[in-house]
Amino acid sequence: MPNIIITGASDGIGAEIARQLARRHGLQALLVLAARNTAGLQSVAAECKALGARTLILPTDVTVEAQCRHLVETTVRECGSLDILVNNAGVSAHALLADVPTDKLGWYHDLMQVNLWGSVYCTHAALPYLKESHGRIVAVSSLAGLVGVPGRTAYSASKFAMTGFFEALRTELHGSGVSVTLAYPGVVDTRIRMNGMNAQGEKAGRSGLKEAGAMSVHECARLIVDGMVRRKRDVVMTAQGKFGRWLKLLAPSLVDRLAMAAVKPDYRPK
Ligand SMILES: NC(=O)c1ccc[n+]([C@@H]2O[C@H](COP(=O)([O-])OP(=O)(O)OC[C@H]3O[C@@H](n4cnc5c(N)ncnc54)[C@H](OP(=O)(O)O)[C@@H]3O)[C@@H](O)[C@H]2O)c1
Repeated sequence: MPNIIITGASDGIGAEIARQLARRHGLQALLVLAARNTAGLQSVAAECKALGARTLILPTDVTVEAQCRHLVETTVRECGSLDILVNNAGVSAHALLADVPTDKLGWYHDLMQVNLWGSVYCTHAALPYLKESHGRIVAVSSLAGLVGVPGRTAYSASKFAMTGFFEALRTELHGSGVSVTLAYPGVVDTRIRMNGMNAQGEKAGRSGLKEAGAMSVHECARLIVDGMVRRKRDVVMTAQGKFGRWLKLLAPSLVDRLAMAAVKPDYRPK
């Protein structure tokens, strides 16, 4: 009976992972839903319950280490064990570095605090319990965590950092029975870019990426759950993402041009 923590479960990909796990496991699963927006968590919990799963709502801001420890400790106290940690909570941003005002660079720290440190805090707290259960860690990085994308210096840095952290951790966990699955979505149809930050560190309200052909949230979550179940190392999404990973070794400047082509013209460097 898996006990599963999902961060960023109030919306988007995390909410859909919860719904798909509810459908898959029914009463066998205990889904611990974590994010800041309690109303969002309650509505996702209601959907999961309707699909037959048990849920526990633990409002959590992953940028606060004590709240991440509370999330993990409460889960283990209430459920007896922890089998899976899905590090999914994340924030987006789109701005050319040159456009960021000198007094506004602080939001680069804020983004790193959610995307990298939120994962570090939760994973560190969960590690002893995951070792006991021979459990699974999932980390939702991004194709921007494999390839630098223009306008994404903050976001790419945070996702490359996630990639490095979890790749190194995987080597440390060799032989422990704990698997680490890194997921690299491309453009997925959620509100993340609307809610993400602009050069001023304010809510962007629009996307700087070409959204046509975005992957559905359902398909993205399905690929992540499949990778988690099969304890895959990596889940690299989209044909372009898979191809780009290899092309970067052979013709990196061509990958730079492909990354530029993914950005809307008015978001490119002048
Ligand atoms: N959508 C894409 O195209 C795409 C592509 C590549 C990678 N990803 C990654 O996939 C993950 C999920 O993205 P999404 O598209 O589903 O985004 P989303 O729809 O905006 O959802 C983001 C989730 O993260 C939570 N979150 C944000 N800040 C948080 C904090 N400080 N503490 C706790 N939870 C926090 C939000 O909940 P609250 O606001 O309630 O806290 C929300 O549940 C992210 O890591 C993102 O970087 C997304």
